[in-house]
Amino acid sequence: MGGYDLNDPIKKILVEEEAIRKRVKELGREITEAYKGKDLIVVGILKGAVVFLSDLTRAIEMPVLIDFMAVSSYGKSSISTGEVRIMKDLDFSVEGKDVLIVEDIIDTGLTLNYLKDILTKRGASSVRICTLLDKPDRRTVGVHIDFLGFEIPDEFVVGYGLDFNEMYRNFPFVGALKEEIYS
Ligand code: IMP
Ligand code: MG
Repeated sequence: MGGYDLNDPIKKILVEEEAIRKRVKELGREITEAYKGKDLIVVGILKGAVVFLSDLTRAIEMPVLIDFMAVSSYGKSSISTGEVRIMKDLDFSVEGKDVLIVEDIIDTGLTLNYLKDILTKRGASSVRICTLLDKPDRRTVGVHIDFLGFEIPDEFVVGYGLDFNEMYRNFPFVGALKEEIYS
């Protein structure tokens, strides 16, 4: 048909489409159970979490409010401070609300550590974290993950929302990118 093979830029598929589908359904059930009777705000981190969030929230069997934030890390020199610039803030207040941050991947942990901190300071009753992927080898700051999709080895991955130079987010699986693509 199209002539493009989605496997072309991929060295190895780390999480197959079917495994993602199954795990997302389970996470939806875990989250539904954990927040029964609560006022839940799901905060997606743009853009990487969008694909995961759209499937995950449809697996949560109760009404939730969805909001988004976009963040970017400061220059490499200050990255160790863990300071993150907010490019797009939430539209809604989290005061007194139970917040679930949805992220694509936790790498160093700096982004989520910072976000959890500021949402807590804004008066959220609880701030928990759901991430599709965890790369624990690269962690520089401790972050508690409340809901985890998959732990993966230290490889640069794309697909299911994750990008390299804004590409490949639409791939239905998570795969390690071929080295020749970086260089
Ligand atoms: P952290 O602050 O180092 O945990 O950064 C996490 C962010 O880095 C994620 O939201 C992604 O945008 C990006 N990132 C980390 N590892 C990868 C990867 O393997 N592929 C694509 N993006 C990644
Ligand atoms: Mg990204």
